Amino acid sequence: MKISIVGAGAVGASCAEYIAMKNFAAEVVLLDIKEGFAEGKAMDLMQTASLNGFDTRIIGTTSDYSKTADSSVCVITSGIPRKPGMTREELIGINAGIVKDVASNLLKFSPNTILVVVSNPMDTMTYLVHKTTGLLKNRIIGMGGALDSARFKYRLAEALGAPISDVDGMVIGGHSDTGMVPLIDHATRNSVKVSEFLPVDRLEKVKEDTKIGGATLTALLGTSAWYAPGAAVSALVQAIVCDQKKMIPCSTLLSGEYGLTDLCIGVPVILGKEGIESIVEIELSDAEQAHMKASAEGVKKTNDLLDL
Ligand code: 2OP
Repeated sequence: MKISIVGAGAVGASCAEYIAMKNFAAEVVLLDIKEGFAEGKAMDLMQTASLNGFDTRIIGTTSDYSKTADSSVCVITSGIPRKPGMTREELIGINAGIVKDVASNLLKFSPNTILVVVSNPMDTMTYLVHKTTGLLKNRIIGMGGALDSARFKYRLAEALGAPISDVDGMVIGGHSDTGMVPLIDHATRNSVKVSEFLPVDRLEKVKEDTKIGGATLTALLGTSAWYAPGAAVSALVQAIVCDQKKMIPCSTLLSGEYGLTDLCIGVPVILGKEGIESIVEIELSDAEQAHMKASAEGVKKTNDLLDL
């Protein structure tokens, strides 16, 4: 089982690290355009193998896509990250060209691979990969909901004063500060709705803190976050290569589901060896439905900026 990750920046490297630590892949290839950078990250990570107890081989390469040949899953993290005060949407101009080239280079050497898109604005980059590669929709997956849901659970646990393992919750919709739809009406602590424990204004704050989760970290770190994004990608990749049939919110091309068509946006999907094996349609409350509709309008507006 071989996984390739394009972009050996903080997100790509954390992703490689978490995949190796979980010990489910034989090989991880890290590719970057910066001379020697991916090789350096790969060597540094490999020198943790005896300490952290993994056998995954991590290989680095400067732009040699032949090293990624026959990958089961390829992850695209390349492009520029956010700076404080920037939205994910503002990255579209530079990142669209990069993501298009990377996807086409990967497919030359791994025509049967599943692509996981992380570069921002992620929903639009996922849509761009659909439009430019023509791959079947199960093989193109945008990573956002897994990360946003982890941030939601962190905020829920904080508000409840509970351990994170006690809470469950999911974020669907666009991966943007306004587009995320934290499903607060569905969130639970040990199967009991969180609304039984928290007043409306505290629930509202959990939602708002979740939506600006990425921006909060960007302001603190001076660039976008990497640990949780890397962990979220590794969870997605594991669900695919280990055929786990896990339900994880991912950005996927919709054709009528949730009343939406011709865009990629976060919805719950079942992930297994075929990639997105099905889309799960859950009943949304009126408020969640209205929020999802507005979120889709926002994603479509960003898609319209693409030069397709
Ligand atoms: C984030 O929200 C990288 O978009 C990513 O941190």
